[in-house]
Amino acid sequence: MIKPGAVRNKHIGHILSKIEEAGYTIAAIKTTRLTIDQAADFYSVHKDRPFFQELIEFMSSGPIVAMVLLKDNAVEDFRRLIGATDPAQAAEGTIRRLFATSKSHNAIHGSDSDENAEKESSFFFSRQEYLRKDIVGTEES
Ligand code: CMP
Repeated sequence: MIKPGAVRNKHIGHILSKIEEAGYTIAAIKTTRLTIDQAADFYSVHKDRPFFQELIEFMSSGPIVAMVLLKDNAVEDFRRLIGATDPAQAAEGTIRRLFATSKSHNAIHGSDSDENAEKESSFFFSRQEYLRKDIVGTEES
């Protein structure tokens, strides 16, 4: 999910390019805006953390871009592509290093396991709305 700050700063196109260049297939994509209750639901695992209120206010502060991405080893490789939670700690060239402004406004969220990727995909999309692995075509040469 591309977060509201990166959308406001017009980084959608740059971020999608980085994702595709890294070998991901965009199997589903939509722009939407979370209500505060939806943001609280999406991030419910963090509900007891001190930054929770700030997180859900920020995540509902403007449009986001939700995506389902396909690739072998997608979750682990995506975490490397986006970099550390805090952009100041993120490696050179990572999406957060390039486009995030702070730890709480950190440009992009990625699922932390295949199981959570399934849950988070179905938070935004029905099964009819995203391509499954078996129907994604191979690359053109
Ligand atoms: P994300 O990958 O979306 O998962 C949870 C988010 O909470 C995280 O990115 C950060 O934006 C935010 N977050 C995590 N730790 C902190 C923190 N210490 N202070 C503020 N925000 C945080």
